[in-house]
Amino acid sequence: MAEILRYEHVDISYNGSLTVKDVSFTLEEGEILGVVGESGSGKSTLIKAAMGLLGPSGMVTRGDIWYKGKNLPDLPDRELRKLNGPELGMIFQHAGSSFCPIRTVGAQLYEAASEHERLSQKKFRQQALELLGKLGFENGKRILDSYPFELSGGMQQRVGIAAAMILNPSVLLADEPTSALDVSVQKQVVEEMLLVRKTFGTSIILVAHSIGVIGAMADKVLVLKDGEMVEYGETQQVLNAPENAYTRKLMSAVLRLRRS
Ligand SMILES: Nc1ncnc2c1ncn2[C@@H]1O[C@H](COP(=O)(O)OP(=O)(O)OP(=O)(O)O)[C@@H](O)[C@H]1O
Ligand SMILES: [Mg+2]
Repeated sequence: MAEILRYEHVDISYNGSLTVKDVSFTLEEGEILGVVGESGSGKSTLIKAAMGLLGPSGMVTRGDIWYKGKNLPDLPDRELRKLNGPELGMIFQHAGSSFCPIRTVGAQLYEAASEHERLSQKKFRQQALELLGKLGFENGKRILDSYPFELSGGMQQRVGIAAAMILNPSVLLADEPTSALDVSVQKQVVEEMLLVRKTFGTSIILVAHSIGVIGAMADKVLVLKDGEMVEYGETQQVLNAPENAYTRKLMSAVLRLRRS
């Protein structure tokens, strides 16, 4: 498999304070990498760095993030903005809250797509319906004509994933896309992301609190503790035989929750 994204000895700081330390990994085409760690361990920071979304106080202070021969932290904002969407897609925890409440889903998706590509409303609608069909939505027309508040939270999240796929990015960066959802809806979102990978060959970095979600989806896992990578490897291996005490702690926390 060809590599699509590579972090090499990446340090990230906010206001000079080192938050992510010496992280290296490779994401291959069509691969799903799960990132886990306690709250504040730097998971969101890690993926925001690729998209230049660290904000004014954040900076990659060492190392490289290679994407198709370009070192992303070296690119001017203008260049990065061109990549965000068509090359690197992002899904947030509450996709619903990124929709505007007073305009239809279809109108908002059209606006997002036409920022990157000139296409008529009619052509867009055709493409969007085709995509929603491929991703298993039975009533794409109704979804495009709905206002966000007419969709359930889980449906909004699934539509958020479809929205990111309209521009057909090579890499999808998903920041806790399932954390706010109940278990049955989490399952639907996981299935949709797996379908995205299967249908489009998209590589995915999935940040998740739930080891269960990671176990169900990810080919590889990266465990972050206080900004440091304490474990990285094939999912089954890491989950069946975690080498690090912190990984074992994360896993036992899940087991305890299940038992209670
Ligand atoms: N814009 C910012 N400015 C300053 N510090 C920040 C900023 N964003 C994050 N941090 C700090 O960086 C650290 C890592 O934050 P980050 O959001 O990456 O953690 P996380 O692992 O995603 O946590 P969670 O699971 O709660 O989402 C935290 O200590 C956080 O307070
Ligand atoms: Mg986070």
